[in-house]
Amino acid sequence: MPKITLLFFVNYFYIRETGTVEGAEVYEPFSSYSCLGFEYKNIIKIKSILNAVDTNINQKLIKKQYQNPSHLNTRRNLQERFSTNRYGWWRWIFDHFNFPPNCKILELGSGLGLLWLENEKRIPKSWDITLTDFSTPMLDKTKQDLSKIKHNFKFKIVDIQDIPYSDEEFDAVIANHMLYLVPDIEKAIAEAARVTKPGGIIIASTNGSSYMKELEDLLEKSNLPVHRGYNKYTFSLDNGKAFLVKYFSKVEVFRYEDALLVTEAEPLVAHILSTNEGLNEKQIKEVNSYFKQYFVEHQKLLITKDIGLFIAQK
Ligand SMILES: C[S@@+](CC[C@H](N)C(=O)[O-])C[C@H]1O[C@@H](n2cnc3c(N)ncnc32)[C@H](O)[C@@H]1O
Repeated sequence: MPKITLLFFVNYFYIRETGTVEGAEVYEPFSSYSCLGFEYKNIIKIKSILNAVDTNINQKLIKKQYQNPSHLNTRRNLQERFSTNRYGWWRWIFDHFNFPPNCKILELGSGLGLLWLENEKRIPKSWDITLTDFSTPMLDKTKQDLSKIKHNFKFKIVDIQDIPYSDEEFDAVIANHMLYLVPDIEKAIAEAARVTKPGGIIIASTNGSSYMKELEDLLEKSNLPVHRGYNKYTFSLDNGKAFLVKYFSKVEVFRYEDALLVTEAEPLVAHILSTNEGLNEKQIKEVNSYFKQYFVEHQKLLITKDIGLFIAQK
């Protein structure tokens, strides 16, 4: 019987989604692939190579975004100025830390170290706290900022997908607003669980699927040259439990009631531009005038936050 060779034509779009940064989709030019006359198994092989390339691009783009701590500061500025719940996110998170004395704590993706900076007076002296991040500039900045606090913090460059600590080393592992950035989320959670002691806990904050939905709706209606997808998360308040229950016995979710009542264009535009590096002057002008005009016409924009955290016990 003659061997049947199937003809395939795989067309990859020139511009394709390659990941998310702060929930916003990231697009990057990607070459076009076509392959004619390959047997099916070859196509599968090509697909898996492309997936691996995708994962690397994701990681590279996310690393690039977090090389510059000022982006995170810009987004923090919007949250601090316009959040309607004045209790305070960092204070609320710390309220959930029911840790014993001499507790050994590992924070993954610690960013600007705000959890500790904003709760300075509440940190027990006996806690052994290690802050980690995969971005060297971010960790350097945090180290410098935390030097103001009298506590023996430890610092280490760590990628959550490959944690350089022994099994069951920590009583508590914290991974706030970072799991949705990780290409291999299963590996990340397995690693976090591995270094957690039996009976220990993981605290992981994230956003829900309604996060910034009003901003998303506005961007959707506009023709602005910026990323969409502020509320598409691989690890969200809505889907995160399914990942955690594989490694942790008791998983609870807590939501923090809050919204942003934005009354000025400039901080909102700065927030949007912080996840849209590489726009040219004309495009930046376009984004600016769109939001300036919006606030002239409407004066304010109420944006849903939909944030919270998981506490899971091993
Ligand atoms: C959105 S920020 C959150 C920072 C901080 N946890 C907070 O809640 O403000 C995400 C942080 O995770 C870090 N990050 C992203 N992917 C990571 C990975 N695979 N391993 C370790 N850190 C990562 C980034 O460098 C950044 O500092």
